Amino acid sequence: MEIVIILDFGGQYAHLITRRIRDLGVYSEIRPFDVDIEILKEINPKAIILSGGPGSVYEDASPQLNQEFFQFTTKSKIPVLGICYGHHLIMHLLGGKTEPKENKEYGKTELIIVEQNILFDSLEKKQVVWMSHGDQITKIANGFKVYAKTETCPVAAYGNQEKLLYGVQFHPEVSNTPNGIQILENFIFKIAKCKKEWKLEGWIINSIEEIRNQIGPNNKVILGLSGGVDSSVTAALLHKAIGNRLHCIFVNNGVLRKNEEIEVQETFRENLKFENFHYVDAEDLFLQRLANVEDPEEKRRIIGHTFIEVFESKTIELDQAHPDIKYLAQGTIYPDRVETSATSKSSAKIKSHHNLTLPDNMNLKIIEPLRDLYKDEVRNIGLKLGLPEYIINRHPFPGPGLAVRILGAIDKKKLTILRNADAILIEEILNAGIYEQIWQAFCVFLPLKTVGIMGDHRTYEYICSIRIVESIDAMTANFSKLDWNLLERISTRIANEVKGINRVVYDISNKPPSTIEYE
Ligand code: XMP
Repeated sequence: MEIVIILDFGGQYAHLITRRIRDLGVYSEIRPFDVDIEILKEINPKAIILSGGPGSVYEDASPQLNQEFFQFTTKSKIPVLGICYGHHLIMHLLGGKTEPKENKEYGKTELIIVEQNILFDSLEKKQVVWMSHGDQITKIANGFKVYAKTETCPVAAYGNQEKLLYGVQFHPEVSNTPNGIQILENFIFKIAKCKKEWKLEGWIINSIEEIRNQIGPNNKVILGLSGGVDSSVTAALLHKAIGNRLHCIFVNNGVLRKNEEIEVQETFRENLKFENFHYVDAEDLFLQRLANVEDPEEKRRIIGHTFIEVFESKTIELDQAHPDIKYLAQGTIYPDRVETSATSKSSAKIKSHHNLTLPDNMNLKIIEPLRDLYKDEVRNIGLKLGLPEYIINRHPFPGPGLAVRILGAIDKKKLTILRNADAILIEEILNAGIYEQIWQAFCVFLPLKTVGIMGDHRTYEYICSIRIVESIDAMTANFSKLDWNLLERISTRIANEVKGINRVVYDISNKPPSTIEYE
């Protein structure tokens, strides 16, 4: 299959560029900027895109390209598109000049196309584009033509048709550049002549065949199923490939949402006809270990370790009954695996939540069928495999569950209060038809008591905080500006219907400076 490589120079958009190219129907992957040329030769990409990045090309420590890079791309006739930092770097390395700009250019800008060319095919002469840069090209290298400028940036796009090298100062991958996708399409299809081969239906067929070949006719696979999107889609795919040789373990860790353990069992056992769905009720063990624990990291650690312990003992039990269990499946997806230079810090954090692998002595081989996919692709595949929408479109839910949504020590009483409040919130958000526009909506239990009034009685009960945020990738988030009437209905229902709550507050903090979760 044809592949487009994105070289990552540390910009925040490497994953976004990759997703855009895949959405155009061409398979694409990220590699570090200093990837070995031999590896690139092996991959034999149809095109290469150099991402943006926070550095300045003229600084000593800034990321550069491998010496033989342009020799390789020119000789192999591989088109290269530089975006922002990549745009500067091509010039810097091939005889042009990039210098600091007096005023950083940031935000929407008018681009004027000065030379009609294939990269801007079908575009009007004036375009709105998104800029974010502190450097600019002041001298263009021999053999290159200036394609576009802005009022303050004389070389906002260029090209060298003979060497198939192109650069744009702005970001075509972001939605703030309205015709950015057209520019990427021109590069991918008109310049690089890629074929639209990346289709999820084809992926499913190939993947099922690969899984069958890898597992063989008799071996069995074990999977920790949380009911989240990634593990559910992994389960559905494996079940299609090897049927009931898939054994799923679902652990009730005592900090799940209301009725979650019932819904997940119904979905997989009854709707999808999984015969080997193993439900382990470990609520008491988890809650016992979490009793009186106040520190959030300690809660996470206990939940992670206890999960491994419970999962491991169930696996050993199953192994004795079914000696052919040879594989452990995991719902790892592409962004979990590929840390871009810009997101490696936060990826590392997310990974520590998710990677609950078993100790080495279990001797199970790992299988990760979704390892090359983005979340949207995983969702689409899940729908095609017949998973219900409520699983596919579900908001993210942290591994340590409600334990990090009850501040301080947790117990059954507080959990019941929080579950009931949360169920009302979600019901109202679903009824209002806005669930899918929201990144996450949930309740948080604040262990503070305040005075209230119920009929003629004075009450002294806890506070429920409502957190509803909009976000693209959880790196930043804004609180949702919901309709007051809807908020009023939610607050009234929670205070009236949930015993133990007499006050509801709405969280109006963005991320940063706050985080989405409270602990
Ligand atoms: P924060 O609170 O850091 O959350 O803004 C960002 C995203 O990560 C989720 N999150 C977690 N997920 N285990 C998880 O599996 C965790 O410990 C955890 N903490 C936060 C959070 O729900 C949000 O989507």
